[in-house]
Amino acid sequence: MRALLIESKGATAHLTDADPDLLEGPVELDVLYSSLNYKDGLALTGKGIARSWPLIPGIDVVGRVTRSESPEWNSGDTVILNGSGIGESTHGGYADQARVAPDFLVRLPGTLTAYQAAAIGTAGFEAAIAVQKILDSAVAPGDGELLVTGAAGGVGSIACALLARHGYQVVASSGRGDEEAAYLKELGAQRIIDRATLAGDAGGPLQKQLWAAAIDVAGGTTLANVLAQTSYGGLVVACGMAQSAELSITVFPHILRDVTLAGADTVSAPLATRTRAWELLAADLDLSVLEGMSTTIELEQVPDRAEEILAGRVRGRTAVRLTA
Ligand SMILES: NC(=O)c1ccc[n+]([C@@H]2O[C@H](COP(=O)([O-])OP(=O)(O)OC[C@H]3O[C@@H](n4cnc5c(N)ncnc54)[C@H](OP(=O)(O)O)[C@@H]3O)[C@@H](O)[C@H]2O)c1
Repeated sequence: MRALLIESKGATAHLTDADPDLLEGPVELDVLYSSLNYKDGLALTGKGIARSWPLIPGIDVVGRVTRSESPEWNSGDTVILNGSGIGESTHGGYADQARVAPDFLVRLPGTLTAYQAAAIGTAGFEAAIAVQKILDSAVAPGDGELLVTGAAGGVGSIACALLARHGYQVVASSGRGDEEAAYLKELGAQRIIDRATLAGDAGGPLQKQLWAAAIDVAGGTTLANVLAQTSYGGLVVACGMAQSAELSITVFPHILRDVTLAGADTVSAPLATRTRAWELLAADLDLSVLEGMSTTIELEQVPDRAEEILAGRVRGRTAVRLTA
C-alpha cells in the first residue's frame, strides 16, 4: 500500500510502498481521504507529535470498511475517525489502508460526502466542539461581538462559519487580514482585526471589555489579552497554541468579571461529544462555504504542504485524497 512513513524519532515522513501487515486493529478500511492539520505538520516534519515508530502519520481518516471484527460496523460502511491517537501513537490516515479500533468511529452523516468530511477534518471537529460550548453557554447572539483568532486557518475558518450561521457577530483576528479580507467576510466575519494587536506584549489583566466570547487557536500573549478583553460573564474556548503553549495570566478576569476559560479536545473526546459535534457540522456548516475554504491534494504533496501549514501560510482546510 502507498503510505507516508516516519521511520524514527525526529525523522521526516517519506512516501513508500509499505507492508499492510504493519497495521493492527479490528476494523479494516480503505482510506478514501485524510486531511492536513497543524498537528500533522508537526508530525510530518519530525517535531514531536509522533510517539511510536515506524509511524504512518495522519490524524484524520475517512474510510470505507472492508472487514470488521466489531459487530457495530459492516463492510461498506463509511466512517470518520478524528484523533484518538491515530497519526501519533498508532498508524493514521496517510496510507491507502488503515486498521482502527471501533470505539471512536462516527458514521458519515447522510448530508456529507467523504470528501466534505475530510475537508472538515480534525480542525473542523475541534471548531464544532468549541462552538458547541458557546451554544451551550449563556452567551447569546445579541450579547456583543465574538472573537475568533487564527481566523484564516483551519479551526478558525470553520469556527467563523459556524458562529455566523448561528447569528453571532463574528470578529476575525488574522495575520493575513489584508490579503484574506474577502475570504474572511465570505466566512461570515463582520469585521477583521490584525492579530498583532493581540499577539504583542500582554496588556493589563483587565482591559476594555470587547468580546462576549472567543475561540482562540493561538495561546500565549494572544490568549492572555483575549481573556483580559472578555466581557463580564463571557466564555473563552482555548483550542490551540499556534503562537505559544505558554499562558501567563492573573485570576482577575475570572474572579472580577466571571470569565470562563474552557478547553476543547479532539484526541480523547468521548463518543457522545464526537457524535454531537458531527451532527452540528452536518446540520449547520454551509457546504458552499466549506467548498470555498477547501483544497484537495494528493499524498505525495503532503510533505511540502506540512512546511506551509507550520508557517501559517495555508488558508482554510486541506483534504488529502487516498483511494477515492
Ligand atoms: N485541542 C485539540 O484537540 C486541537 C484540535 C485541532 C487543532 N488544535 C490546535 O489548534 C491550532 C490551529 O490548528 P489548525 O489546524 O487550524 O492550524 P492552521 O490551519 O495552521 O491555523 C492556525 C492559524 O493560526 C494563526 N497563527 C499562526 N501563527 C500564529 C502566531 N504566531 N500568533 C497568532 N496566530 C498565529 C494563523 O492564522 P491567521 O493567518 O489568520 O492569523 C494560522 O493560519 C493548532 O495549535 C492545533 O494544534 C487543537
